[in-house]
Amino acid sequence: MLKFNLYSPEFDADPFPVYKTLRDEHPSYWYEETGIWIYSRYADIVTALNDWETYSSSKGNLVDELPNRAGNTLGTTDPPRHDHLKALIQKAVTKRALDHILEPAVSACRTHLDALAGEKTFDFVNDYSSNVTVDLLFYLFNMPKENQQIVRDKAVLMVQSDAATRQKGPAQLEAFEWMTNYAGDLIEERKKNPGDDLLSNFITAEINGEKLKEREVLLTVTTLIMAGIESLSGFMSVFAMNLADHADARRAIAADPSLIPDAMEESLRYNTSAQRFKRTLMKDVNIHGQTMKAGDPLILAYGSANRDERQFENPDVYDITRKPKGHLGFGGGVHACLGTAIARMACKVAFEEFIGRYPEFERTQETLPWVPSSNFRSPSQLELRVG
Ligand code: HEM
Repeated sequence: MLKFNLYSPEFDADPFPVYKTLRDEHPSYWYEETGIWIYSRYADIVTALNDWETYSSSKGNLVDELPNRAGNTLGTTDPPRHDHLKALIQKAVTKRALDHILEPAVSACRTHLDALAGEKTFDFVNDYSSNVTVDLLFYLFNMPKENQQIVRDKAVLMVQSDAATRQKGPAQLEAFEWMTNYAGDLIEERKKNPGDDLLSNFITAEINGEKLKEREVLLTVTTLIMAGIESLSGFMSVFAMNLADHADARRAIAADPSLIPDAMEESLRYNTSAQRFKRTLMKDVNIHGQTMKAGDPLILAYGSANRDERQFENPDVYDITRKPKGHLGFGGGVHACLGTAIARMACKVAFEEFIGRYPEFERTQETLPWVPSSNFRSPSQLELRVG
């Protein structure tokens, strides 16, 4: 009988042995404790991602879903509504928009690195990755800078789960409400003074000649702020952790920064910050000798799929020359991450700048504190000693 606590600091610290047992012995596993199925094999997860009619996101895609989000955002609608919404937002994330934010991204990285000049140790998460991603998102949405700190704090809380229940607790719900109000004010202001930014374009957009529903605009903007800040910052921190733990890879990159994009893809495979997302079954599914019932919730464990030996050779080896085709670090299917281009660009710049200044760095903590979350896995603090 397999025993593990999916929602514990021990699991956060190293989920990979349990994932392996799940893949080998219980590929469709009913996690009795909270009543949810888990898919852990690459092939099953890809099947689910390509069949949204059976594996729906419309009841929410977070394992600890926030109130009212289901049915009202990109991540929590099914096609065709989802596809219309995605096309609208994707337009704003064009190559031109990306070129436009390259310079602010470089400048944000330099500002935060300058602030660390002379320090021998610092916290990569709170002194660098988080600051850089907040600056970038504020630039992208043209948001007033005076709110940066509080928006960042609320975004961090929103992605977390209550440490004990691993559902959203009072602190997370309060942060969500705060962010919804903040997004609401922002939307009202943009309606009065539209600009040429991602938010203004989205707010004024129409689908088949119809304006978007107010609730849809509000919750999508709220989610974009959360995802834009925390998904990216969390992943950068995981990437830095991998490089601190793999000196050969770090040295190779320091000698040749053009290796950064490949190393980043390997980190997205090896331990993506987006470990688990949820779907709900719209019909009965018979799989691996079991019947999963319509209405049952299901976790797609991307973090496990990426370590599936049926898909990737020597999956537990961190190899920056691997070029891991088809990894699920950004999910897949119709719900594949909208922010991939931004994330790849921002991460490349952030690490070019970082490693340019600090070719040598190492972790000072033997064990790391992890963000308590049912979906994400990233350190809440990563103290580095730089040489
Ligand atoms: C390296 C950083 C990031 C990682 C690892 C990541 C990961 C993911 C994953 C795994 C999904 C799929 C969720 C699902 O299956 O239900 C997703 C969806 C999404 N991400 Fe990201 N993300 C990152 C950065 C960003 C950024 C910077 C933004 C916004 C600017 C963003 C916005 C979104 C949105 C809106 C969706 C929903 C897309 C849809 O359902 O069609 N992400 N992300």
